[in-house]
Amino acid sequence: MKQYNNVTIMNHPMIQHKLTILRDKNTGVKEFRELVEELAMLMGYEVTRNLTVEEVEIETPVSKTKSKVIAGKKLGIVPILRAGLGMVDGMLKLIPAAKVGHIGLYRDPETLQPVEYYCKLPSDVAERDLIVLDPMLATGGSAVAAIQFLKDRGAKSIKLVNIIAAPEGVKAVAEAHPDVEIYVAAVDEKLNDHGYIVPGLGDAGDRLFGTK
Ligand code: PRP
Ligand code: URA
Repeated sequence: MKQYNNVTIMNHPMIQHKLTILRDKNTGVKEFRELVEELAMLMGYEVTRNLTVEEVEIETPVSKTKSKVIAGKKLGIVPILRAGLGMVDGMLKLIPAAKVGHIGLYRDPETLQPVEYYCKLPSDVAERDLIVLDPMLATGGSAVAAIQFLKDRGAKSIKLVNIIAAPEGVKAVAEAHPDVEIYVAAVDEKLNDHGYIVPGLGDAGDRLFGTK
């Protein structure tokens, strides 16, 4: 792991605590959904840490003062369907004015290759700082493809936020898109023969939406 310096692992106790409950196979759909949303919000706090700010003049009930607001480029959130949807509301709580684009990808269970089925992005995607959301970074195929869609449409500033990553996925994204910073709550041990992250949390989409 240490050789990829584009990964930030968020060790905050609240994030790690929620992650543990999320992983537990006895955690039900309702709690799983709530935790994914909460984790997205907490992770968003770190992802937005370096946004540029500018001073504006305001008037409090007591006096005039200068105070800071976020400046610079506008933000865009891009969940990878389905499971990335679970992270959108948490991120929007922090960045309510962000536009949201959707990229629909599913992983072919035999080949593990991503298959695109939907893509709808803000028209000014090239001018935005984009945050791609997906709880799981396994082989990295889905994230690499989603980031490429965005770059093909002119995007220049992209961050990737995953709750759990496998070392294989981190490597794949780092090699295909070295300009993209990855933010995760954990990098797990490995992938199993079916491309699932070990220990991971199972199938994020199924656990979020109660399918299977
Ligand atoms: C899951 C997950 C990622 C992808 C990760 O989605 O949400 O998008 O797998 O795997 P990869 O890194 O090997 O590409 P899945 O294909 O199960 O679709 P879903 O979200 O619709 O359930
Ligand atoms: N997708 C998931 O939802 N879970 C994994 O462990 C791997 C890919």
